[in-house]
Parts: sequence; C-alpha cells; structure tokens
Amino acid sequence: MLTNYTTMTNLIKYLFVAIVLVAISSCSKQSGITIGFLMPDGEGSRWPIDQSYVEKAAADKGAKVLSKFVLNDENLQQKQAIELLEMGIDVLIIVSVNANTAAAMVREAQKYNVPVIGYDRLIKNSDLDYFVSFEGAQIGNLMVEHALKVVPKGNYVLLYGDAGDNNAIYIKDAQEAMLQPYVDKGDINIVYKGFVDNWRADNAYHMMSRVLSFTDQQIDAVITGYDGLAMGALKALKEHPEQKVKVLTGQDAELDAIKALITDEMSLTVYKSIREIATASVDLAVKLASGQRIDNVNSTVNNGRKDVPALLLQPVAVQKENIRATVIADEYYSEEEVYGSLE
Ligand code: GAL
Repeated sequence: MLTNYTTMTNLIKYLFVAIVLVAISSCSKQSGITIGFLMPDGEGSRWPIDQSYVEKAAADKGAKVLSKFVLNDENLQQKQAIELLEMGIDVLIIVSVNANTAAAMVREAQKYNVPVIGYDRLIKNSDLDYFVSFEGAQIGNLMVEHALKVVPKGNYVLLYGDAGDNNAIYIKDAQEAMLQPYVDKGDINIVYKGFVDNWRADNAYHMMSRVLSFTDQQIDAVITGYDGLAMGALKALKEHPEQKVKVLTGQDAELDAIKALITDEMSLTVYKSIREIATASVDLAVKLASGQRIDNVNSTVNNGRKDVPALLLQPVAVQKENIRATVIADEYYSEEEVYGSLE
C-alpha cells in the first residue's frame, strides 16, 4: 500500500515536472527564436539599413538575428545560407543576389525544416514559403507617370536594375507597357534601355557616359530603377553640360537622392518603407517559428513553381514638394539630416 502510494506521488511529481518542462520549452521557442538574414550588398546601398530595422524589430519580439552580407556574390550567399542552417536558425530571411539560382538555398533550408521568407526580392522556381515586398509594377508606374507628366514628348533613357533581380524585371515590364502607346505614336523615342549589373552606380555611370558619347540628341528623361543608378547617371550628365535633362528618377529615397531632389538634380525617387518591410518580415518569421497562425499576407505571387503567399506593401513617390510629408513624417530621416546642411 505504502509502496503504491510512494509510486503514485512520484508519478505525479514526474508528470508535474514534465508539464513544466514542456511549458518552458514552448515559451522559449517564442522568445529564443533565431532568424537568419542574408543580404546581397553591404556597400553603398540600403541593406545595412534593413539590417538595423530587422534586428530592432526582432529584439522587440525577443528574437535574435544572425545577419550576413555578400558583395553580390551568389555562390558565397549560398555558403552563408548553409552556415546559418548548420548553426540551427529557426527561419531564414533572404534578399537574394540572384532570383534564379537562389532556389538552391530554399531546397537546402527544406532539408533542415527551416521556412524561408523572400525579403523584397522574389526567389524564382522554388518552394519559397512567403514573400514580403512592395507592389513591383507600381514602382515602375510611378516613375513613368511622373516622366510622362513632365516630358510627354521627347527622348528617354531607361536604366533598369540587375537582370538577375526580379524587381528589375517588374519595373521594366511595367514601364515598357506604359510607354509603348507613346512610342507607337512617335511622341517618345527610347534612345537607350538596358539592365545595370548588380545595381551598381559605377556601371550606370559607364552606361550613361557611353549613351551620351554616341548620341547627339538632347536627352529629356532618364528613368533609373534605383537611386544609386540615378547618381551614376547624374555624374555622367554633369560631364555633358550641353544636356538639359528634365526628369531623373530613382528608388529607395537614399539621402543623397533626397538632397538631389532639393537641388533639382533629380526629380523623383520611390520610397519603400524599410521599417514596414522589416517589421512585417520579422513578425512573419516569429509566427512561422512558433507555429502561430499567419494573418498578415494580402496577395500571392507566382514564382514559376507556385503561388507564393505574399505581403505586398505600397511604394510612395517622393518629389521635392512632399519630402516632409513622406520620409520625414515617417521618421526615416530627420529634418536636420535632409535640410541641415542646405539651409
Ligand atoms: C532591389 C530593390 C531596390 C534597390 C535595389 C538595389 O532589389 O528592390 O529597392 O534597393 O535592389 O539595392
């Protein structure tokens, strides 16, 4: 009887300890989540800013981020993915260098049962779990709408981003579709259009320089897909003072682009809130890692293999007139950062 009683109490004790352990481990899954974050270019672009917003958003949720950069090296990015997976991350967020070859990282993550979120850039032909980005076509449309308003008739140069980044393709397709009727009417003449390797400013500079050296026409609008490219094009344009370009666009609302809007050297940039994309991606990552219901997607994007559940955010056009109402109101920059050295 006594032995039976002792066995019973021991059993209850074990059961209690087991319940507590399970409870602790499920709590620690919530707070001890590790997110791997791969970015494509640590130099002269927005990605270090994304890193800080992602790390901040994760810290707010008690999660940890292991961030890694490459310099547009897709093979190195694959090695980094494997390193992170071996370290035991719970979720992998990828800004891929190359939309096509990045599928290998998704396959690798699947072996470790680690879900993958495509951040800003789509990963094509893969079993990507989620995609968090901005309305890609809308970005191209905002640039062309603006250009057509200022230059309804004239000579255009189009500098897309990297051909291996689907975002450059979205922009290209949207812009070509919108411009085609004007080209057909003979109102718009496309003097040059082309992709710019790795979204690099120096590549844009060389392309624009070549265009300006072979044409004797007046260029009216230069539509580029990223502020870095606009800066490269601007450098080339400054070496050709005979050119009086009326439209120069970019994307990302980088600080030098915002300042170029104020001095009328650029006419438009497209702002994509990094706070929004970073916070939404971390929120999704934490939910995925802790088995919570995913409720923050609003679309699907076909990546050639499947319809990937997606959260697509809205890009915003920024011109000289609405800098305060956009990037400053959103606290992306302070008044001092934007106007400090100018006023
Ligand atoms: C793209 C992104 C752009 C810009 C570019 C260069 O994928 O959509 O906003 O950041 O990369 O970094």
